[in-house]
Amino acid sequence: MTQNEYREKIDKALESCFVLDDSQSIKGLAESMRYSLLSGGKRIRPMLVLEFCRIAGGDIDLAMPVACGIEMLHTYSLIHDDLPCMDNDELRRGRPTNHMVFGECTATLAGDALQSEAFASILHADLPASRRVLCAECLADAVGLDGMCGGQYLDMIGEGKLLSETELNDIITRKTGDLLIAACRMGVAAAGGSAKQLEAAAYYGAYIGYAFQIVDDMLDVLSTVEELGKPIGSDAEEHKNTFMTLLGEEECRRRVQKLTDEAKNILQSCFDDTAFLCELADTLAERMH
Ligand code: IPE
Ligand code: IPE
Ligand code: MG
Ligand code: MG
Ligand code: MG
Repeated sequence: MTQNEYREKIDKALESCFVLDDSQSIKGLAESMRYSLLSGGKRIRPMLVLEFCRIAGGDIDLAMPVACGIEMLHTYSLIHDDLPCMDNDELRRGRPTNHMVFGECTATLAGDALQSEAFASILHADLPASRRVLCAECLADAVGLDGMCGGQYLDMIGEGKLLSETELNDIITRKTGDLLIAACRMGVAAAGGSAKQLEAAAYYGAYIGYAFQIVDDMLDVLSTVEELGKPIGSDAEEHKNTFMTLLGEEECRRRVQKLTDEAKNILQSCFDDTAFLCELADTLAERMH
């Protein structure tokens, strides 16, 4: 399957989530959740789930609730990341951010609900219980205190301070890398893949995750609002530590290339058909949004 075909399949599955009729009292909250969930993200994380599932010998249709789950979790993180108390951004995926449309309280609750629904989606999948548990465990470990939330906390308390490269690496691994690692591992887990495959998937996720945030930081400086679909210069405005401030553009480019090559190499030993994931790593390195 091509990236676009995956994206269409994922969008179709997400479209069927949280559809309520007018008589339901909580419809407003569901609308807020759907507003952000269906606003056209790149769907990188669910794509990783499905492709790792496929190359580990699994059925991608059975893994779809796991893929949708991680996109729900990611969408929650974006809604909260944009809140006035966090990055205070007004544009996301080319549209006003959730709190600009629905207000801060509903946006906060939409994020909270998407986080719980993410785990519900995984745990309700039509997969053997042991695989569902491992998928949920991968995700839980990646996004809590020791993972994404910890990273977001460090990102916030680091604002306005000059951080070392080690400190910035710690933030990036947690806030962005851990979720991408989880996506790759969850795909293998959904297929019932081996421990060696889980490990290789984690390495691939770590390499592309690191490169992904470097590119995100570069685009915040180098892209345009139209292209990016989110504000540019947001990091400077919030006095963030980024790879651009720490390393400069040229070193950022060099590292992205090196990490992308490492990601492509690591898969060869454990999987047969790695063409899609090699191409995806390249696409992510070269992306303009
Ligand atoms: C943005 O993630 C947040 C980061 C971790 C840098 P994406 O760039 O994957 O956002 P969408 O889902 O495509 O909007
Ligand atoms: C956010 O990083 C990572 C998350 C956990 C959401 P950024 O704050 O750099 O992401 P963008 O640039 O707003 O998408
Ligand atoms: Mg942020
Ligand atoms: Mg942000
Ligand atoms: Mg950013």
